[in-house]
Order: sequence, then C-alpha cells, then structure tokens
Amino acid sequence: MATQITDHVSWVGKTDWEIRTFHGNEYTTHHGTSYNAYLIRDEKTVLIDSVWNPYAEEFVEKLKKEIDLNEIDYIVMNHGEPDHSGALPYLMREIPDTPIYCTGNGVKSLRGQYHQDWNFVPVKSGDTLDLGSRQLVFVEARMLHWPDSMFNYLTEDNILFSNDAFGQHYCSEQLFNDRVDPCELEKEAIKYYANILTPFNKLVDKKITELLDMNLPVDMICPSHGVIWRDNPLQIVEAYREWANDYQEDQVTIVYDTMYGNTRLLAEALRDGMKEIDPGLRIKIFRISQADQNDVLTEVFRSKVLLAGSCTINNGILAEMAGFLEELEGLKYKNKKALSFGSSGWSGEATQILDERLQKAGFELLDEGIKVLWTPDTDFLEKTREQGRAIARQLADESATAQ
Ligand code: FEO
Repeated sequence: MATQITDHVSWVGKTDWEIRTFHGNEYTTHHGTSYNAYLIRDEKTVLIDSVWNPYAEEFVEKLKKEIDLNEIDYIVMNHGEPDHSGALPYLMREIPDTPIYCTGNGVKSLRGQYHQDWNFVPVKSGDTLDLGSRQLVFVEARMLHWPDSMFNYLTEDNILFSNDAFGQHYCSEQLFNDRVDPCELEKEAIKYYANILTPFNKLVDKKITELLDMNLPVDMICPSHGVIWRDNPLQIVEAYREWANDYQEDQVTIVYDTMYGNTRLLAEALRDGMKEIDPGLRIKIFRISQADQNDVLTEVFRSKVLLAGSCTINNGILAEMAGFLEELEGLKYKNKKALSFGSSGWSGEATQILDERLQKAGFELLDEGIKVLWTPDTDFLEKTREQGRAIARQLADESATAQ
C-alpha cells in the first residue's frame, strides 16, 4: 500500500521484515530493511527506483493498484544495484517504451545486468526534468554507493531523493525519523555508514559540501533504505560530514579470538590496566567468533584505539580474526591506533601477522605486539596491565591537549 508523503509524492516501496543478511552474507540486518520507491504526480508522473528482485512481482501488482502504469511518464533509476533495479524487468514488460533516466554509468550497469535495450536517457548533474509545476533536478553522486549513483532534488516539495546515501538497513512501518526509536535509528545509520560508505569518505565529504553550497531548502531526505528524514532532515547530512572526516569517539575496542582462553586473559589485563587509569573510559570487548562482525566493525569505527588479539594456529591467526581484518582493510578507517596481542604454544606468529594486517588496514601501531608463550603468568599479566595503563594515559594526554 502506498503511503502519502506530501500531496504530490507517495512511497511505493517494500518493507522487508524477514531479511537478516544483505549483500549476500556480508551485512547483518537485525531490523530488516526496506527498498524505498517513490511516485511523484504532477502534470507528469515519475517513478523513482524500484525494489529487490524477490519482491518484483508484488511491487508491480501493488503499483497497478495505485496508478495505471501507462500513466507513468518517466522512470528514474538512481542506482543500478539489484536491490533498487530488481523489479525493472517486470515493470518494463508492462510499459516497455517508458524512458528510464539514469547516469551514463547507470546505463552501463542496467544494460550489463538485464541485457535489455530499454529507452535509456542518460543525465548529468544539473540536468532537469520538467514535471509541470515542479522540476526534478539530477545530481550525480558517484560512489555513493556505486559509480552509477545519483540523487534528485524535487522543487516545490523541497525533497532530496538520495538513494543509498543517508539510508539505513532499518525496517519500520512508521516511515519517518520522528516516529521511530531514535537510538535504534542512530545505531542503524552509523552501522550503515561504517560498513558501506567509509571507503568513499572523500567523495562523501565533497558531495556534502557541494549539496550544502547549493543552499537548497530541504524539507525531507528520502533515501532508498530505511526511514525518511523529515524532522531536522539535515541532521543526517551533518552526521555524514563528521563520519567522513577521520571519525572517532573516546572509545577503545578490544577484538580477539582464542582457543583455550589465554589470549582472553591478555584482553582482560589490558582492560584492567586502562580502567585503573580512567574508570570512565568506554571500553568494548568482543570475542569475534561469538559476535556480529558488522556490529564490531561499527564499534571500531567509533573508536580511537583497536586492541586486536589472536592465538597462533598453523603458523597463522584464527580464521574469524582473519575475516574481520579482511573487512577492516577494505573499509579503510582513518586516524586510528592499534596494538596486537596473542598467546601461542609453539611458534607464535600471530602478533606479527596481526601487526602486518593492522598496518595494511591503515592503523598506526602503538607498540610491538604483546606475545606470550603458553599461559601468561602473574608477572606477564602485570606487564600487560601496564600496557593498558600506558594506553589510557596516552588517550588522556591526547584529550587534554585537544581541549
Ligand atoms: Fe541499496 Fe547500493 O544499493
């Protein structure tokens, strides 16, 4: 069922309460997600985006109840990824000649995926579509999230259709930011940024500057996932600007895995040392094999320091830590420090491997890794606590200097 957003704009997307992983198994969606599509009715009628392929038929049938499909004058495809373009093949069977407005890269992406010679109309930033009493202004937004991504600005209603940017994998029947739990929303919005958009920080920052410099009135931001930003819509733009610029909070995150608990003892000693110096320091601890990887990555994104631990196995590190570090490297977090730790029974390569992987992921190492043979004894645990104290002292000094 469509939801009216303004007199001339309605939401015609799909709320997906069932989905628990997105991008295959890469991204966990604890609160489901939504595929937002929008219908603008003026003298001309425009459909913006569609939904993921499993819901294609349902989408088209519901759309038919809203409008005679032949009354759709234009389709705008802001991004070709299948979660937005998946219903196009079904829709285009019904209205095969309807022009599809997208970027030049959008044409490549849609042709490459669907192998159809639809009536594509490539557009660039600044091009407009006259709808009667309104105009739709196109703004290319390369790499937010793919090279084909694009925003649209609707005059009169002052709506920015931002596609993936400013979205959340967060399903709600309430549809607007002022109607949902703000803590849940903040958590899903930053998780989405930390797990999808950080590799493109520079482009995000540039696009935000460009948007703000246009001085357009913005009454709503309508992304393609999650809720619409209606109450103080620019709050998410400001948040993106912060997140895109070497973001960090006063937090240390400890991530480790262990076979027999010896590496955990080191994690706990580091924690104890830090707490002795600064009991108020926010410290989060995860055994990666028992935690949600995307949630842990979000916590690392929030942090100043990552303490990463693994015991040695087969001259390497534990597989769950290796997978976590692979993701970390791809996400290209900036302005963060790290220290490795780990126990071993024999050869003990883990800390060296962790150090190499952490440096490759862009982290500055605080020190040589903490490496213990077998189970740490009282003296070793005290030495490790002292490392924790040193980290807390350094963070306190840096905070004092920054104030
Ligand atoms: Fe929601 Fe990049 O697709």
